[in-house]
Amino acid sequence: MVGLFPTRSRYVMSRMSTSPSPAPNRPADAGPADALITDAAPAAAGGNDVLVELVGVNKHFGDLHVLKDINLSVTRQEVVVVLGPSGSGKSTLCRTINRLESIDSGTIRIDGQELPQEGRELARLRAEVGMVFQSFNLFANKTILDNVTLGPIKVRGVSKPEAEAEAHRLLQRVGVDSQANKFPAQLSGGQQQRVAIARALAMRPKVMLFDEPTSALDPEMVKEVLDVMAELAAEGMTMIIVTHEMGFARQAADRVVFMADGAIVEEAAPDEFFTSPRTERAQDFLSKLITH
Ligand SMILES: Nc1ncnc2c1ncn2[C@@H]1O[C@H](COP(=O)(O)OP(=O)(O)OP(=O)(O)O)[C@@H](O)[C@H]1O
Ligand SMILES: [Mg+2]
Repeated sequence: MVGLFPTRSRYVMSRMSTSPSPAPNRPADAGPADALITDAAPAAAGGNDVLVELVGVNKHFGDLHVLKDINLSVTRQEVVVVLGPSGSGKSTLCRTINRLESIDSGTIRIDGQELPQEGRELARLRAEVGMVFQSFNLFANKTILDNVTLGPIKVRGVSKPEAEAEAHRLLQRVGVDSQANKFPAQLSGGQQQRVAIARALAMRPKVMLFDEPTSALDPEMVKEVLDVMAELAAEGMTMIIVTHEMGFARQAADRVVFMADGAIVEEAAPDEFFTSPRTERAQDFLSKLITH
């Protein structure tokens, strides 16, 4: 099955890794001056470098067991791509990581801290997890600039001038600063999704979750969003990405996590996963992608 998802040179990055962990080193020249992220947390010296940790997580929707004893550790600066058939629990998994969904049992830790059920502490920890969805969820009645500054001003207590300066910098980096005073409906889908990424980054998250960020986009806009994500990965952002873009998954991921029926059934380095999937479920999943 070698070469089924051939290398797309546009996504090739210098930091390609063949082993699932630890996360590879990022280019030393990705400095803050022209970077999407300014304060990627340095690796804990000699300590536990796990940033997101799920242990024995279970979740039901009524009788449906949607997450089955999920154990997943994501290392600082690691890029994990989650694949799996529709209904396998990928979105639910993402949503539990910042408590948009509650869990029935197990623990979820972000940077060593367990997620509380509710309250101020939850709001604080939630801000450490940036999330980008398929639908852009921008505030329609606010300008692009206001969409990006709102969180930092309200949640992080940043002054308006400071928030605006940071927003312009981020919007410039994702290539939409010229649209700063427009409203979301005046932008293309790809532009709106890049604004959504800038908005999430403005909260200075420790980890970014992406749930099919390009699925709602016209094909010609997919690349511009994937390019921003690839750049973010190269700069050292820890990322968990649900996507159907297999070329991107193969190039950008440090590790592929494959889910089926609410369980993680396989984890591997991308080359290994795409060329020699071990489980029948993964083989079946990949073979269906090829024939359509
Ligand atoms: N709010 C909900 N109430 C009841 N069932 C739900 C809810 N959200 C999801 N489910 C069910 O949980 C299962 C997992 O759904 P989930 O959205 O996590 O799958 P997914 O892997 O993201 O699928 P897709 O690739 O289609 O996005 C599905 O069977 C779905 O129907
Ligand atoms: Mg989903």
